[in-house]
Amino acid sequence: MTFILALDQGTSSSRSLVVAADGRILAKAQQETQQYYPRTDWVEHDPQEILDTQFRTARQAIEQAGLRPQDIHAIGITNQRETTVLWDRKTGQALHKAIVWQDRRAEDFCAQLREQGHEATITSKTGLPIDAYFSASKLRWLLDSIPGAREQAQRGELAFGTIDSWLIWHLSGGKIHATDVTNASRTLLYNIHSQQWDEELLTLFNIPASVLPQVQSSASEFGCCSPEILGSPIPICGVAGDQQSALFGQACTKPGMAKNTYGTGCFLLMHCGSHVPQSHNGLIATSAAHHGDTPAYALEGSVFIGGAVVQWLRDGLGALEHSAQVEELARSVPDAQGVRLVPAFTGLGAPYWDAQARGTITGLTRASTMAHIARAALDSIAYQSAAVLQAMNRDVQANGGPTLHELRVDGGACANNLLMQFQADLLGLPVVRPVTIETTALGAAYLAGLGSGLYSGLPEIAALWQCDRVFEPAMSRDEAQTLMLSWEQAVRQARTY
Ligand code: G3P
Repeated sequence: MTFILALDQGTSSSRSLVVAADGRILAKAQQETQQYYPRTDWVEHDPQEILDTQFRTARQAIEQAGLRPQDIHAIGITNQRETTVLWDRKTGQALHKAIVWQDRRAEDFCAQLREQGHEATITSKTGLPIDAYFSASKLRWLLDSIPGAREQAQRGELAFGTIDSWLIWHLSGGKIHATDVTNASRTLLYNIHSQQWDEELLTLFNIPASVLPQVQSSASEFGCCSPEILGSPIPICGVAGDQQSALFGQACTKPGMAKNTYGTGCFLLMHCGSHVPQSHNGLIATSAAHHGDTPAYALEGSVFIGGAVVQWLRDGLGALEHSAQVEELARSVPDAQGVRLVPAFTGLGAPYWDAQARGTITGLTRASTMAHIARAALDSIAYQSAAVLQAMNRDVQANGGPTLHELRVDGGACANNLLMQFQADLLGLPVVRPVTIETTALGAAYLAGLGSGLYSGLPEIAALWQCDRVFEPAMSRDEAQTLMLSWEQAVRQARTY
């Protein structure tokens, strides 16, 4: 049997999994990482902690699997996307904490660009709206705010990367500065049509080209991990941003196949084949993981607060001791009794894109209890995902694309049966949960297997996907529509325009 090590560096933790070639997960190690909130709307991570926890869990996972480092055939990396690191090429030290995808500090600059009328050009090249979510404005902030950084960058002394690049650089002992197409496509600096960094965008954001990593296909050889890190020179052969990795791990590699990942946020992606999709309904076009020369694209709806709303119930409201208690509390009432919770804590992402929107609870009465709020919090995950899927359907119908038949789901919160049933009810579509819900890590492992020649191609990988449970819609379409209307009404109260 051949084994692959998948490194999954997410927003809340670093995880490492040893995956057998047949898709079985043999070992898993995880360590939470600290979140820093230096100001309202700012979110940072410690880049050194990311390295330490990632490499430690990698060693633990290999040991737990009863393997030696030299038994690992290849490494696949998947990561929280957009999060931005700037480091010194000589020392490998980060100049500042990593600015996390949820961080809104660069919103004013993005608003200026929008006011100056740059949105159409930028969106046509990148598939993205101008938003502080993506890396470019975060990188610009770093270069402008760290004394001397811009001059150092001009002299070619600094390197920029999303978390994949940061890991690859350190895994390779500072030899490789690279990223893959999926991560590059989240920066606002990468032209997804020409598949190159775009000079006009670099000028608009005032980013020197010298800081940029080389972009490669997601399933290709990035180089070797230095033996000092994991004990053996293991090749890195797969890299993808976590959502594109999950799309791949769910075997959604054909146009019209879609998945939703219920993590910190919710990310619904539909594979769109080799042509860049266009959205007129607030979704983004993004590169999907691909192998070889033919590009692949997806439509994506990113919801900023998904499972994180449960953390807020626990840490912000003190309504739960452990996140896992949410299902029991929510089930203790038959429904949310008209309460709607819009968790726009960091603005609203797709399909609304309102950076200034803030969280709102509507429909409270004297009879409302914490259980109704917990139910409304869980419901909000499904409502937001349903709003994205409706937008996706409108886009697909307008473009004459294939109709969606089912939604594959993964991520921690998809284990919640109450939530999955409500999701199917709202969508009017079967919601399908696979046996292995670790699809993000699985995607990275499969990409590494493909990039190293272990698998013959996509059909061999698709054959490894197995269904665990199908949630069939049980609600009338009229009722679902009424609920969606009440949701949209609550969203209007959270929005600023
Ligand atoms: O775009 C942000 C996304 O990649 C973060 O994913 O799983 O770390 O919440 P996750």
